[in-house]
Amino acid sequence: MVPGHFTCMEPQDSTENEKKGKKEVRRLNVGIIGCGGIAQNHVFSMSLLENNARKIWKWKEAPFKFKPKLYALADIDPKQVENLSTHFPVKKIYKGSTAGYDLIADPEVHAIFVLVPTSDHLDYVLKAAEAGKHVFCEKPLAFTPEDVDKMIAAREEYGVVIQAGLVMRSAPQINYLKQFFEEKREKWGQLTNIIFRDTQEKPYKGAEEVHNSTWRKDKDKAHAGILFEHTIHDMDGMIFTLGEIESVYAKIKFVAGIEDIEDSVAAIISFKNGVSLTINSMWNDIDYSQRRYEFFFENAYLTIIVDERDKKAVDIRYKYLKEEEKILDDGGMDQMFREGIGMPHINAEVPGPYYYEDLRFLDAIAREKPAEVTLEFGRYVQKVIEACYTSSKEGRVIHL
Ligand SMILES: NC(=O)c1ccc[n+]([C@@H]2O[C@H](COP(=O)([O-])OP(=O)(O)OC[C@H]3O[C@@H](n4cnc5c(N)ncnc54)[C@H](O)[C@@H]3O)[C@@H](O)[C@H]2O)c1
Repeated sequence: MVPGHFTCMEPQDSTENEKKGKKEVRRLNVGIIGCGGIAQNHVFSMSLLENNARKIWKWKEAPFKFKPKLYALADIDPKQVENLSTHFPVKKIYKGSTAGYDLIADPEVHAIFVLVPTSDHLDYVLKAAEAGKHVFCEKPLAFTPEDVDKMIAAREEYGVVIQAGLVMRSAPQINYLKQFFEEKREKWGQLTNIIFRDTQEKPYKGAEEVHNSTWRKDKDKAHAGILFEHTIHDMDGMIFTLGEIESVYAKIKFVAGIEDIEDSVAAIISFKNGVSLTINSMWNDIDYSQRRYEFFFENAYLTIIVDERDKKAVDIRYKYLKEEEKILDDGGMDQMFREGIGMPHINAEVPGPYYYEDLRFLDAIAREKPAEVTLEFGRYVQKVIEACYTSSKEGRVIHL
């Protein structure tokens, strides 16, 4: 159990509440540090959660009403915070070099999203936890697993919720497939091989459609390249689906010649359950960005194509023996996931997994329980990635 940190309003005296048959209202003011690319997803999700809170947190047993609110935005770059607050007006904005710390010090802010370049995650998470604020921190959590340990220690010491931004764990499709593979196990036979590829335009060119900043080419800001910054999601999604990893063997290259920022990865990952996964990840100049997974079972084959440019972002198909290929229905996967986490349907198009991860973060705070997507998951996947770097440097298989 973690203690809640709310402002309780209207009226605070519980005996008075009972007499009046009124529920206490718990307000949770949310602040965002870093108003760049990924902030847009979280701000949009937050506005949906705020507007639909009455429906989402209408559990009979709840002794209070839960009212989350996007309350404050902060960024070192005034233009970024001004731009975002034009589209999503908030009560307070903080700008300039101390903006993040000023937001953390604001007693009206109870929960904080840390959405800045990776180099600055650790300090903000530690300071926010110390100030008694709940924290959502984007991936990669920190430069090293040892730094993630410091976040874990702070979570324990200050009793706050800290959720890792490993968004695949809140993707309805990944959750559905985990269950689907188990159901099909007898018919489809053993899962033997997975081919995965992650190809993305260089995300540090600036003024790009998807990434318009350049920090991802600076090792002091980003720490490493595509494996650490992007494929971390897929690696984590596979760990979620298949369990722990036994060994890794990797070949890492720096084609663009940027120090410590790898842009070509070939790796063989062996899972403890016997599945072999090959990864090919690359950053290039092709105007194209696609993730593609191919799962081979003894009797079946399943593909997932994730194309951010396409209207239907995730396309999943499978083929069992000589039967016709089938396509999985997105709506069904969404419903299964939503029901699994006990959440009602809202009458709005949700922006995919970012909505669900933010919902789970707020829900953990509301119900005073630990985050489901833990810092420990973030530490584990970072250990696997570190092992890939060591494997490439030393030219050997690394056993985890
Ligand atoms: N989960 C995902 O799918 C996903 C996708 C993209 C990025 N991310 C992660 O989110 C984080 C941010 O990435 P982004 O793409 O939004 O970057 P971005 O460059 O688009 O935005 C970062 C923002 O943070 C601000 N900033 C920089 N340093 C700051 C500081 N010390 N204090 C306050 N503000 C500061 C910048 O001015 C900028 O507005 C990174 O850790 C990245 O890995 C996650």
